[in-house]
Amino acid sequence: MSLVYYFIYFLLFISSAFFLFKWIFSSSTSHKILPPSPPKLPILGNIHQLGLYPHRSLHSLAQRYGPLMLLHIGRVPVLIISSADAAREIMKTHDLIFSNRPKSIIGDRLLYDGKDVAGAPYGEYWRQIRSICVLQLLSNSRVKSFRTVREEEIELFIKKIESLASLSLPVNLSEMFSLLTNDIVCRAALGRKYSEGEGGRKFKELLGEFTGLLGGFNIGDFIPWLTWINYFNGTDAKVKKVAKEFDQFLDKVVEEHSHGQEREIKSHGVVKSEDGKDFVDVLLEVQKDNKGDFSFDKVSVKALILDIFAAGTDTTYTVMEWAMAELLRHPRVMKELQNEVRRIANGKQKIKEEDLDKMHYLKAVLKETLRLHPPIPLLVPRESTRDVKIKGYDISAGTTVITNAWAIGRDPTSWDKSDEFTPERFLNNSIDFKGQDFQLIPFGAGRRGCPGTLFAMATNEIVLANLVHKFDWSLPVGTKPEDLDMTECTGLTAHRMVPLLAVATPTSY
Ligand code: HEM
Repeated sequence: MSLVYYFIYFLLFISSAFFLFKWIFSSSTSHKILPPSPPKLPILGNIHQLGLYPHRSLHSLAQRYGPLMLLHIGRVPVLIISSADAAREIMKTHDLIFSNRPKSIIGDRLLYDGKDVAGAPYGEYWRQIRSICVLQLLSNSRVKSFRTVREEEIELFIKKIESLASLSLPVNLSEMFSLLTNDIVCRAALGRKYSEGEGGRKFKELLGEFTGLLGGFNIGDFIPWLTWINYFNGTDAKVKKVAKEFDQFLDKVVEEHSHGQEREIKSHGVVKSEDGKDFVDVLLEVQKDNKGDFSFDKVSVKALILDIFAAGTDTTYTVMEWAMAELLRHPRVMKELQNEVRRIANGKQKIKEEDLDKMHYLKAVLKETLRLHPPIPLLVPRESTRDVKIKGYDISAGTTVITNAWAIGRDPTSWDKSDEFTPERFLNNSIDFKGQDFQLIPFGAGRRGCPGTLFAMATNEIVLANLVHKFDWSLPVGTKPEDLDMTECTGLTAHRMVPLLAVATPTSY
């Protein structure tokens, strides 16, 4: 027989094996009950339906296909959760199965191959570093120990606003909130600020590039054979540059801390926390005391510090930005809040942290802001590690899960007049964002829920209270409250597309 015949037999064999395999595979999944899915395109799957604002597009799709919907982003099956009930199934009933994170090519390259908390796969290493985060870096007592840092930074912040107000200039609140949060996080994490001079500008730029890359959509995660696109569009080179520059920066920070050089800085008047320790100090101590129970080296220290910046800066300032935007759009709510804050201040110049416990309306304003404007509208994706049945549907191991917190916060079955900004809905009930009430989950919930909630809210509460205490606020001449642009940005964190400008008038006491 000639070679040609061998070749034809070979092709016939391969294609029959392929069709047999496909038939067996499809008959094994055909009796599975899958969640409803919108029609998809070959190769792309449902990518084309995500749009510029995926939380909004997915919300519209969920209205047609239901609160549990199966999409295919490229070749990855993605379960979209759009109701409190379904979120409870994922983050409470079956939390263990959904405690993994899907791999991200860019995330891994920026965050030391998943050695950070947020990106680490579920397992022993993640358990150990998560416990360091919860017990040592972000515990109630450590968050309280940064009180002086917050108070000093807020004082500087208020002074800057006073000087702009004295010149009758509008304040770019978005920019100021971003700088303030960055300064607070830098002092808590690294022991000093990195916002001044040329170095400060570079650090801010680097952080912006880092969060931009982390929040961007990376086609290679969903269609692996298209990974090469990043080489041609410059993303690969950018990721390499940002990872290298951040690594060099963190090396220097760790070096300074290890050799006590920054003690010098401290003695020049920079307070870190009440016990004199910042996050790097704490992590280096953990590394020193580690008796080899698990691998916690210098790379882990750098990865954890980077996580704090990735997860803690943009998210926190976004809350302040939207809270002030909503207050400016709702003068009645602003007045109510000022009345509460000023009554409790009782003539004092500054609001102190011990005053905050009594400010129920302030807390309600922040909850209402987080309900309508969750800083990460689609939370951080999870991944299932086993096959499981959710509300009668079969969900396979390896399915990515995206929870649409933005849609859940606006779901009329959970919230009366769900599109309106009404903080009163949180008075006289115990609904909170701590992961027990699934209609309000801006910080996620369960094992992988945000460990930085206390840290973030300690800053948000004290900033907002002092801001409305010290000043009366209005929109720049010509902007009516109802015309204020409320469009959000694209990317992982949904801050405002247009910076928030407002005019401050100091109140006299
Ligand atoms: C308003 C501010 C913040 C919001 C809205 C927010 C939101 C979130 C969300 C949605 C997740 C994923 C939760 C899940 O999968 O269930 C998360 C995880 C995380 N957050 Fe936050 N966060 C904020 C502030 C912070 C701060 C200030 C820090 C640290 C200083 C922080 C550190 C982390 C870390 C380390 C994780 C990963 C946890 C893990 O995977 O085990 N976050 N955050």
